[in-house]
Amino acid sequence: MSKTRPESPIWVTGASQGIGEALALYAARAGAEVAISARSEEKLEAVAAKDPSGRIHAFPCDVTDAEAVARTVAAIEDKLGPIGTAVLNAGTHKETPVDDFHAADVEAIFRLNVFGTAQVLEELMPKMVARKSGHLALVSSVAGYRGLPRAAAYCASKAAVIALAESLKIELDGRGVKMQVVCPGFVRTPLTDRNEFPMPYLMEPEDAARRIWEGLKSDRFEIAFPTRFVMQLKTMKALPPGLYFPMIRKATGIE
Ligand SMILES: NC(=O)c1ccc[n+]([C@@H]2O[C@H](COP(=O)([O-])OP(=O)(O)OC[C@H]3O[C@@H](n4cnc5c(N)ncnc54)[C@H](OP(=O)(O)O)[C@@H]3O)[C@@H](O)[C@H]2O)c1
Repeated sequence: MSKTRPESPIWVTGASQGIGEALALYAARAGAEVAISARSEEKLEAVAAKDPSGRIHAFPCDVTDAEAVARTVAAIEDKLGPIGTAVLNAGTHKETPVDDFHAADVEAIFRLNVFGTAQVLEELMPKMVARKSGHLALVSSVAGYRGLPRAAAYCASKAAVIALAESLKIELDGRGVKMQVVCPGFVRTPLTDRNEFPMPYLMEPEDAARRIWEGLKSDRFEIAFPTRFVMQLKTMKALPPGLYFPMIRKATGIE
């Protein structure tokens, strides 16, 4: 397996906290110039200030806003040069259980997780294709493998991100642009701090950042971790529905 350093500058979306923040700090420590985006400028500046090298640069941007995305890509490339690697990490989760299921919640989750990702792709992918170089990594989740209880919208959105990455990779492979998908298990972040259920194999964001960074260097399409949890979920993914449903009900305590 080849191990090539992710090309700088690296753009990380959703980088004002959580996994994105940890990845930005990790990449800067590894010597990359890093552009970070999220909606909160104040939080982005606080992340940049944590990095003593001065290699983290804040570019506030709402990834669901087409004009803002276009402006931000232009501003990053103006200041740091052509974006070498983009980790499209901005995403969110809200429970959508049967007894509290609203189309508006589904729409909000898809607007960020799927359409926000697509918005950035629409802007950046043609530039990378024209340059015949570039590296895109879409952050999905192990929750995108199969439907999980109380998380219908999140699972559907993350399954969509995996499908987006897979479909585009087939076309991008011959055009000099690398496409990967990132499927983390549970990572301790402000997003998961809200969860009231036990989170197996919960890991720290710094650990997730290291695994993502190593994965970005590899030729693997899918960067999935932690291994043991991923193996369990992939086994469940291969099960027929008649076996999957009783097993997932038991595992999650749903009657
Ligand atoms: N934590 C986990 O266990 C876990 C597991 C698997 C996958 N993931 C995925 O990993 C990614 C990061 O998760 P996390 O746990 O680090 O989440 P988080 O702590 O909630 O951080 C989300 C980041 O996205 C930004 N963001 C939200 N809306 C945005 C928008 N419209 N435009 C640009 N940025 C926006 C937030 O900043 P602002 O609010 O300032 O915009 C924040 O920086 C998500 O895609 C998530 O689904 C997480």
